[in-house]
Amino acid sequence: MTYKVLATVNHKSLDKKNIKQFKSGALAVAVEKASNGNDFVKHIKSTFFSSTKNQVIAKTIDKAVKDVSSGNITHAWVECPNVKINKILFIKQPDNKAELRKWVEMFTRMVSLANAHNEKELSIHLNDSIISNPFGNLVEVAARTVESSSYKFNQTKNKTAKKLPLSKVTFTSFQLSASESRNTSAAVKKGYAIGEGMNATKFLGDLPANHCTPRIIESKAKQLKKIFPKLKIKSLNEKQLAQLKMGSYLSVARGSIEPPRMIIIEYNGGPKNVAPVVLVGKGITFDTGGISLKPSGKMDEMKWDMGGAASVFGVMQTLARINAKVNVIGVMACAENMPSSKATKPGDVVTSMSGQTIEILNTDAEGRLVLCDALTYVKRYKPKYVIDIATLTGACVVALGQHASGLMSNDQKLADNILAAGENTFDRAWQLPLWDEYQSCTKTNFADLANIGGSGAGTITAACFLSRFAEDFRWAHLDIAGTAWVTSPKKGSTGRPVPLLTEMVLSSK
Ligand code: BES
Ligand code: MN
Ligand code: ZN
Repeated sequence: MTYKVLATVNHKSLDKKNIKQFKSGALAVAVEKASNGNDFVKHIKSTFFSSTKNQVIAKTIDKAVKDVSSGNITHAWVECPNVKINKILFIKQPDNKAELRKWVEMFTRMVSLANAHNEKELSIHLNDSIISNPFGNLVEVAARTVESSSYKFNQTKNKTAKKLPLSKVTFTSFQLSASESRNTSAAVKKGYAIGEGMNATKFLGDLPANHCTPRIIESKAKQLKKIFPKLKIKSLNEKQLAQLKMGSYLSVARGSIEPPRMIIIEYNGGPKNVAPVVLVGKGITFDTGGISLKPSGKMDEMKWDMGGAASVFGVMQTLARINAKVNVIGVMACAENMPSSKATKPGDVVTSMSGQTIEILNTDAEGRLVLCDALTYVKRYKPKYVIDIATLTGACVVALGQHASGLMSNDQKLADNILAAGENTFDRAWQLPLWDEYQSCTKTNFADLANIGGSGAGTITAACFLSRFAEDFRWAHLDIAGTAWVTSPKKGSTGRPVPLLTEMVLSSK
């Protein structure tokens, strides 16, 4: 299972000749402000609606274009009975200077309007302003958005499961040169794969914790290898983690009957001598807080505490799907954080793989405890850089809300590249400082480090803790506590930060 939602997402290059054969269920056309339609609309009209019996439709098209382009309405459907194009959806296009977000919203709306209209097939026309947009990757973003916004979670519904009708999207272009057409097809393919990766991430996140334990994630990774034999899967069990002396990681899993798994997905698509990028995801399949038990309100949301690991899974799937020419190691540090008579207690001191001892003052600060040992472990790959991705702190939700992931790094160049990748994909991050002054927070009388800092800057002090385990390589930390899922009423995973991470890895910076 690869969590592909749409059965196909293609590109069809139309020109004055082959347009006559063009057939479509619904066709979505973006209409520029204050325009009377583009070349493509004119050709559609002269090709399909010039006969006298279609005069009425031609007029309706003119009116729809006029209404939408003037801003009177935001979209209009034109039904075209007995024509090869069954119906056309005209939709308002963002202004020339609009940010990427507006475009993502437009493509999302196309999908939701098509679904609301019960369409199985949708063509989306890529007009000139989409193809030659200053963003440079708008076609990719379009393809990613149609796939990711077609996702709906049904896995744990029996009687109420309802699949969305839309299953096939064809992007059309008109009068492109051969090279433009090739680039457009490649961008559609890449975007579709990123959307598929986002959906894999969403699916794992949305699965309830009893359907998504560390061992189940392990089996999903093994299934992924069946589809993409190029991936190498390694999974470390409790015993192997103990042999590696991951006392910190194991302290989190102690209270649970579910054994931990550290799952490693290797993808080597680049030259052998190129150092790999390493992605490390927090994979707490459920976070009760442990003995430092969380309050029960909204505790169900802690099933998403493996969102970092899920995003690693999504990225690895995307890379395999597009045969990317890069080397990437994805690590999913999975465990369940439960209270029990075996659970770690506040004040317990454990020894991490790095040799540093940790006083666990709060068992609810467990993410950093699994991540620190995973970070020590990945040193062996001699990474180009390491990014860890974690739903790490409630403080990050307070600071940044749901729009930006928190970014902290020991290397400003790496941080700048991550910020840029976030802007380019509309999957943004915002940097917080990792100044020395914040480091004092993890001091204690009883161990080398404490796992929590003082009352302020919880997101930064968590990153400070991790930084003590990332001194030997370029490293960045993404706190996705606010961005990995949205709360009611549309409660569910977002698939973030798969677009950012994929862009980062593929940009080879
Ligand atoms: N998984 C949580 C962080 C979290 C909280 C994510 C709410 C999304 C929404 C993490 O393990 C945690 O519990 N962090 C504590 C740290 C504290 C004990 C220092 C927190 O943020 O309260
Ligand atoms: Mn916690
Ligand atoms: Zn947690």
